[in-house]
Amino acid sequence: MTLTPETRELIDTREWSKLWQPAGDIALTNHGSFGRTFRAVRTLHASIEVETDTDPARFFRYDHHDEIEAAADAIGRFLGMPADQAAAFTHNASTAVLEAAAAYATPQGPILTTSLGYGGIRYGLVGLAPRLATSYEEVELDSIDDAAMVSNTVLEAVERYTPSVIVLDQISSATAMRLPVEAMIPAIQASSPETRIVIDAAHAAGMERNPVVAGADAWVSNLHKWVCASTGAAVIVTERGSDLAPAFRSWTGDDPFPRSFTWIGTDAKAAYLSAPLATEIMDRLIAADLDGHITGLLDEVGDHLAETWNVAADPRPDGMAAPWMRPIEVPIRSLTQDELNGASLIVRDQLKTDVIFTQFQGSTFLRLSAHGYNKLGDYERLAKVPSVLSSY
Ligand SMILES: Cc1ncc(COP(=O)(O)O)c(C=O)c1O
Repeated sequence: MTLTPETRELIDTREWSKLWQPAGDIALTNHGSFGRTFRAVRTLHASIEVETDTDPARFFRYDHHDEIEAAADAIGRFLGMPADQAAAFTHNASTAVLEAAAAYATPQGPILTTSLGYGGIRYGLVGLAPRLATSYEEVELDSIDDAAMVSNTVLEAVERYTPSVIVLDQISSATAMRLPVEAMIPAIQASSPETRIVIDAAHAAGMERNPVVAGADAWVSNLHKWVCASTGAAVIVTERGSDLAPAFRSWTGDDPFPRSFTWIGTDAKAAYLSAPLATEIMDRLIAADLDGHITGLLDEVGDHLAETWNVAADPRPDGMAAPWMRPIEVPIRSLTQDELNGASLIVRDQLKTDVIFTQFQGSTFLRLSAHGYNKLGDYERLAKVPSVLSSY
């Protein structure tokens, strides 16, 4: 798979917004929640579906496994994965984290995660625990000053609970904080060697270079967020040849990883097979300083909003800022979860801008994000956010 001359030219001439389909009348400043797919990937995705449909039996019976594994290997190369690790596709980070937790949890210890974990996954783990004859515990990380405090608090909880599984976020969704997982993993292993470590790195692929952290028993990332692959593409990474397998197994379920994940029944595979093209586009964009484009935008917009609203420029502790997202405190009262969702809708309706609000340490934050298609003008209307939410 190689980039078409048209895609290469769009990147080289910095007409990056044309890599995605034109946006509608809503300014999209919240790539972090639902990433957009590259147009070239959409085209390839559609052609893969047409091609497989010409002879589904040939594809699913004969070509499928090798093609899927080759595509997952390509993703592994993009992620800079070590040779002893392998990647397998899943449809999203939620499925992948829950699969790993289900594979590793035992009645000997609870499933442990933190209050910074992604809400949907915490729901999933709460539901999963009793099915596996274990319990669910959560470490409170609501008042943290720095990375060392995160590590120490998590480590104390590991010592207290001796969990069978711990799920840690590499980049926390609500706070856009990068957690010190590299430091935490060896400390957890030393303190509780039986604990299996699952890293929810849903935001890491694309945003970080060589994001796969060493020592995790499973590492998970979405490709449909920052890599701009089709919706429904994520990877789970673990030791090649390990016995990690899905909870709902099918024909290859007892094969060594990653083949254990390659066949979970007949399903749509074009999102997986087209994902390597998204990584090629990302590689070229990154070489053309996509990082500089995104961080430059977030710095300019974030500093401007912080000054306008008279709030802290960046509430995250030093060294804990995820590079492609930035939370800005909104000077309004603390909102409930329902009110946070309602606030996004109000801003969408009145300011024609898609944003997400989160809550941390009793304050409400707007989580800014950007990708290659964003321009300064997309963020202009955000200055009015506190006034349109003043009725709250
Ligand atoms: C940290 C984290 N984990 C998991 C998810 C869930 O991703 P998905 O809906 O693709 O399963 C998200 C989504 O934003 C997230 O931020």
